[in-house]
Amino acid sequence: FSMAKTFKYIILGGGVSAGYAAREFAKQGLKPGELAIISKEGVAPYERPALSKAYLFPESPARLPGFHVCVGSGGERLLPEWYNEKGIELILSTEIVKADLAAKSLTSAGGETFSYQTLIIATGSTVIRLTDFGVQGADAKNIFYLREVDDADKLYEAIKAKKNAKAVVVGGGYIGLELSAVLRLNNIDVTMVYPEPWCMPRLFTSGIAAFYEGYYANKGVKIIKGTVAVGFTANSDGEVKEVKLKDGRVLEADIVVVGVGGRPQTSLFKGQVEEEKGGIKTDSFFKTNISDVYAVGDVATFPLKLYGELRRVEHVDHSRKSAEQAVKAIKAAEDGNTVEEYDYLPYFYSRSFDLSWQFYGDNVGDTVLFGDNNPESSKPKFGSYWIKDGKVVGAFLEGGTPEENKDIAKVARVQPPAQDVDQLAKEGLSFASKI
Ligand code: FDA
Ligand code: NAD
Repeated sequence: FSMAKTFKYIILGGGVSAGYAAREFAKQGLKPGELAIISKEGVAPYERPALSKAYLFPESPARLPGFHVCVGSGGERLLPEWYNEKGIELILSTEIVKADLAAKSLTSAGGETFSYQTLIIATGSTVIRLTDFGVQGADAKNIFYLREVDDADKLYEAIKAKKNAKAVVVGGGYIGLELSAVLRLNNIDVTMVYPEPWCMPRLFTSGIAAFYEGYYANKGVKIIKGTVAVGFTANSDGEVKEVKLKDGRVLEADIVVVGVGGRPQTSLFKGQVEEEKGGIKTDSFFKTNISDVYAVGDVATFPLKLYGELRRVEHVDHSRKSAEQAVKAIKAAEDGNTVEEYDYLPYFYSRSFDLSWQFYGDNVGDTVLFGDNNPESSKPKFGSYWIKDGKVVGAFLEGGTPEENKDIAKVARVQPPAQDVDQLAKEGLSFASKI
């Protein structure tokens, strides 16, 4: 028998939203001992996007404590000492295996129990594994996934250990594109494999994708589309040697990186809290249907006011902002006040090689492509607008300046009318800068 450790607030999960929530708690006023963050990871909250980018650079890669939150949004870097000074308990390397929302208690793998008055669920996503759908040989060594800093360390070690390595990247989404680039920078021979007709189909149009596929090809990345990995063979040490594709081709590989999507980590709460669209359903203050339980970041399915519907968003900007909104709402409620409803403008971005794009809004409706999307250009700059019901609802820009990126964000927020699609294509960025 052991006594439960009791806190006024517990944040379950120690990722991006946890860090931004802690900062907001400190801003709003927090007494020592009131807040605990419980995380499976062994390190204080950090900016996860670094793991697929500068963390794997061949020269002077990013390392902790360099990228703890909140440096990713230009804020103060919260080192472990910061939590200490604020009296925030960082309970690291501690996996919660049981959550009892009725009893307001959490139990760790090591058998410790924690109780709370208010819980913020910030468990993020986990990777989908090829072993989840029984791909033959998918448990071989040197098949990597990337979610946490430990995963990145293992991949980095393999990159350094293998000379003249061949890598196969499975998946053509965010991980696929960012990892193919960073592996190439490490002078590895890279082949990407994905089932769709073009990369990043959940956001890119064929026109946008054509640019990136051309650019990657020029950088020496080989791309195989329209098929999937159906099996792996390993050597006598159990290390991956070959990737078998559904179309019959066999690729040599010393390293395989898999990025076939994520899944929100909600299983601890199954049957205890209302769910929607694969996530935990919340209101505009990230409050769930269970009193004193909030959910933020990747796990939250929240009202996206701008589009009048419930959505789940798996991107860093929302994880930061939802965390801040939840904490503001919690603190306001304690004083009998309310805060404004969350009014989020979706914002996604990626960087690879010398490229950098941003997207704002909704990628629905008709599209127009504008600008210079020739992958051979020395300074390509192009974009797309999405038009629905005669209004521009989404905007994408590669190679934009900070000012231009602000302009496309404004377009997506304001949703100006656009009758003539050809005219819009001609005007391109100047349409956005006039708004
Ligand atoms: P996050 O995943 O950050 O944190 C969840 C935490 O909860 C983890 O520390 C986990 O260990 C912990 N946890 C889960 N279950 C637990 C349990 N039972 N017990 C204890 N702890 C538990 N987005 C973007 O907009 N631009 C980008 O460039 C990138 N790049 C990027 C790269 C890589 C490699 C990844 C994996 C993801 C991105 N993203 C991104 C997505 C972005 O990082 C993501 O949306 C946020 O990290 C989500 O923040 P959360 O706090 O919700 O989860
Ligand atoms: P994703 O959803 O972006 O891409 C998954 C891709 O997997 C699909 O596009 C498809 O090409 C491919 N795929 C699906 N099934 C397959 C199969 N059987 N074989 C081969 N390919 C298959 O997911 P991801 O790239 O794995 O990223 C995981 C998470 O990390 C997401 O939440 C993502 O938002 C986040 N992330 C975001 C960024 C960013 O915003 N810049 C960067 C890295 C990761």
